[in-house]
Amino acid sequence: MNAFKSRFILSYIIVVLFLSRAVESHDNLQGHMEPLGSAGSYFDVPLENEFPSTRTFFNNYVVPGIPLIMKGVLVDSTPVKQWNDSFFVSHPDSVEEVIVENVKKENRVKPKVKVPFRDFVTEYKSNDIYMVNEVPQFLRRDVELPEPLQCEAIEKDLIANVMWFSNGGTKSVLHADGYNNVICQYRGSKRVVLINMLTTDDDWDKEIIDKVGAYSGVDVDAVDYMKYPSLARTRYGIVDMSTGDCLFIPLLWYHQVNSFENNLAINIWFVDAGSRHVDLTEERCGIFRSRPTLDQYRFEQENSDAASDYLDSSLVKGSQPPLPIKILLLLKEKKKVSTEDVLKWIKDLRKDLRNPRDLSSRIIATMDINRNGVVDVEDYKRMRKNEQTFLNIADEVDYALNKYIDVQPLELVREQKLKLTRLLVQRGLLTVEKATVFYGKKIMDNGRVLGATKSEL
Ligand SMILES: *[C@@H]1O[C@H](CO)[C@@H](O)[C@H](O)[C@H]1NC(C)=O
Repeated sequence: MNAFKSRFILSYIIVVLFLSRAVESHDNLQGHMEPLGSAGSYFDVPLENEFPSTRTFFNNYVVPGIPLIMKGVLVDSTPVKQWNDSFFVSHPDSVEEVIVENVKKENRVKPKVKVPFRDFVTEYKSNDIYMVNEVPQFLRRDVELPEPLQCEAIEKDLIANVMWFSNGGTKSVLHADGYNNVICQYRGSKRVVLINMLTTDDDWDKEIIDKVGAYSGVDVDAVDYMKYPSLARTRYGIVDMSTGDCLFIPLLWYHQVNSFENNLAINIWFVDAGSRHVDLTEERCGIFRSRPTLDQYRFEQENSDAASDYLDSSLVKGSQPPLPIKILLLLKEKKKVSTEDVLKWIKDLRKDLRNPRDLSSRIIATMDINRNGVVDVEDYKRMRKNEQTFLNIADEVDYALNKYIDVQPLELVREQKLKLTRLLVQRGLLTVEKATVFYGKKIMDNGRVLGATKSEL
């Protein structure tokens, strides 16, 4: 038997073994090479027909990290009732520039362009373009902040608002955000595929992330179970959003979004303040604003340049700035940053790095555009000049860092969430039933809530 043949047979055996294991663990391979979430086991996403109060919203959904679909809550809103394309185009302020993507199937490598909002509206029906940008200033007075977020105590936690506008047919990658998200549908409909990250201790999330940035390279139209076996095991929640619906997606929940028909949605990202937010009573929320529209609020990420955008998108507020930013900050103190400088800082940052020296030189090599062995002001200027260059470099540095770290943030968040969820159940703020749907057996044992310590109570 020649070498080719034996190799063929060997890989055949491996495939058969693999297939039979896969078949054992989930009956069949239904869904293989099919769109994401089209087969498998499912969970029900909680549904309410009106906005819950701030307190309920945080205790039952935000703090424990449980998604929620709010049906029909905005059917009578100004954007649904009064916005149309001729209003957009004829408004004198619609010259404001917005970021437009050229492909509808999201591809995070493709560069984006900036055009006047008016031009986008004139062209989006005939061209394959997609607006992903902050809500234009002149439209903000028409958009109410989703009701449960109208609370003084959380105003400083608002990170960003984004308008997603297209003629339908867009598909996002499977990804997770480092922020909590409320997305509201003002035109058209969406199907959102959610993956429950809470019930499992699996490392499935590591397996699906091909490139750091918390998104997966999986083809969402044809999910390859051979390459991503965990996607055959995981539990999906399918949410169909119609005009007037809002959806809460907790931070770090993997999701994939498909839009249909002429489509306009706006989402608000806000940080997770965990236990600080278990008691948002009306008194604590303060007096409601007379006009709780987006123009009345400050969003942390507004009008920021690429560098501070990146800084803000670090996982959770209060955490260390991402490496590339930290290095640029070091540049302010020193005129140049060397491998030794990075090494010193990196060792303090993480004790679990496998080879900090190696990592430090890789980082310097990535950021050292002029190839003089250090990161200096000239490198910085070049990165500032070209946003895309900076983002690519930042991505690469992050990628390098993550390869040297054993612990993924998802695990930590999952642990913190579980603790807080038990606490909420113990205090009677969240029902055992609701918590169990998402956390499974991790909440109760023999009628007792697990993990109860004196200090937690
Ligand atoms: C478009 O919206 C404006 C402002 O709400 C309204 O006055 C106008 O009648 C609408 N036009 C159409 C064609 O619906």
